[in-house]
Amino acid sequence: MDGDSGRQDEGLQSQVEEGRGFTVWFTGLSGAGKTTIAEIVEKEIRDRNRRVEVLDGDIVRTNLSKGLGFSREDRIVNVLRIGFVANLLTRNGVAVVVSAISPYKEARDQVRRRIIDFVEVFVDAPLEVCAERDVKGLYKKAFSGEIQGFTGVSDPYEPPVAPDLVLKTAEESPEESAHRVIEKLEFFGYLWSPGTTRHPEFGEYRW
Ligand code: ADX
Repeated sequence: MDGDSGRQDEGLQSQVEEGRGFTVWFTGLSGAGKTTIAEIVEKEIRDRNRRVEVLDGDIVRTNLSKGLGFSREDRIVNVLRIGFVANLLTRNGVAVVVSAISPYKEARDQVRRRIIDFVEVFVDAPLEVCAERDVKGLYKKAFSGEIQGFTGVSDPYEPPVAPDLVLKTAEESPEESAHRVIEKLEFFGYLWSPGTTRHPEFGEYRW
């Protein structure tokens, strides 16, 4: 093999890989670890040269869902908006990573029905653990009553009935959790191992 073909191989590796789009949706209490795991998963997907977008509740609420509060209605609208954008991206071959509390089963199920390639991940940590972590200091305010209608404290969280994956973040590190997500995405055929330029089953398949 001469030097030129070596360089060509390198060129191929740095190209954006086309692939089947999907939405991996992290649901769970505030402080359960959704954003942390989503960030690691995002990097892993990017390392596989895939187009990836993250839709995070905290960020979405500063733009797409700006002005929405935390009533049941507003949370449902927020989740449906995120789902709408996730669907547009997914059907265009993008890997979409969503992290939002998305506390209501009804809204999650609506999104799930609309997005064909959907992977639901329950980021499961006991309320006491989330409250103990209290990364943003919000649980303290929720327990004192300063913030009302806080998920898990004074507003319901309805756990998924049949998630594709459950991450017990009080028992495993964010890296371990993220690794399990990637494995699941590989299992479903949405991702393939680094170093393989194309999933053998998909062959020349292009979206
Ligand atoms: S969702 O319920 O509509 O899915 P989303 O994930 O977008 O929620 O936003 C949750 C974030 O908003 C939390 O991480 C927290 O920082 C903040 N927040 C502010 N008020 C509340 C509240 N009452 N309940 C839950 N989270 C809240």
